[in-house]
Amino acid sequence: PRSVIFDTDPSPDDAVAFLAALVSPDELEVLAITTVAGNVPVELTTRNALKALELARRTDVPVYAGAAAPLVRKLITAEHVHGRTGFDGYDLPAPTKLPQASFAPDAIVELVMSRPSGAVTLCCLAPLTNVALAMAREPRLAQHLAGIVLMGGSMSEAGNITPAAEFNFYVDPEAAARVFSSGASITMIPLDCTHQALITDARLEILRSAGTPVGTAFYHLLEFNKRFDRSKYGWPGGPLHDATVTAYLLQPNLFDGRHVHVEIECSSQLTLGASVVDWWSVAGKPANATVLRTIDSDGYFKLIFDRLLRL
Ligand code: BDR
Ligand code: CA
Repeated sequence: PRSVIFDTDPSPDDAVAFLAALVSPDELEVLAITTVAGNVPVELTTRNALKALELARRTDVPVYAGAAAPLVRKLITAEHVHGRTGFDGYDLPAPTKLPQASFAPDAIVELVMSRPSGAVTLCCLAPLTNVALAMAREPRLAQHLAGIVLMGGSMSEAGNITPAAEFNFYVDPEAAARVFSSGASITMIPLDCTHQALITDARLEILRSAGTPVGTAFYHLLEFNKRFDRSKYGWPGGPLHDATVTAYLLQPNLFDGRHVHVEIECSSQLTLGASVVDWWSVAGKPANATVLRTIDSDGYFKLIFDRLLRL
């Protein structure tokens, strides 16, 4: 199996992403979960990660808490989507375990650098603060990784937090910019894909009718999410953003994309955090990321919910 670290700010779509990986031991070995401020402050994202592991009876997986704020900006959160706790909609069992003592960026450096080059893939589901900090602490990190698969940015789908920017990149644009200029092998899954992957009632019903503790919990958590996306976008359901990262690792042929040049806007007030994707290679700059643009959404939900319901 491929060794992975999930860097995350749970919200339910993050939790689906790492839990689906945990039940895929033939393909993925989850070394750790690292948390960061994003959807809600880091104390809550850490607590939510621990709660999700508790629900899955996988408290053996170490959780490291990371950055409480972006590199240079004030934290912006998304309680308007995920509720005050980041996990509104269902009361998960309180965690019985504490996070590990080390700071997440240090843990990332240690876990990656103590293994051979090309052994570890970072799965990034949140603002990229921890990853940028880890790269600053260990300049060889980017090259030592097998790669980074991340949910973030938007190419032709406009923004979901400002007209121009997707949430994860908007919260910490300087971190995103550093990661994209780091030389690491990056696969970016933008809103262009995740807005095709909507949790419709029929898809939610798969979770509810499973009747298992995990199915019931995620039915309620994702149902809470859906209220926001329904009223805001008029869609039949909210996007299941972050589990696309796990789906890509398990079944890359569900996606289509291109190896292109991507830059992150860090100075304009109007377009702060926008990902500028040179899809037609008009600038002639070297490609630094594979940007996925389409997804087989039926295949995606089948894969991810099948795995989740193994729990
Ligand atoms: C991203 O923002 C978060 O709310 C989701 O978990 C996802 O990582 C989508 O813009
Ligand atoms: Ca997330």
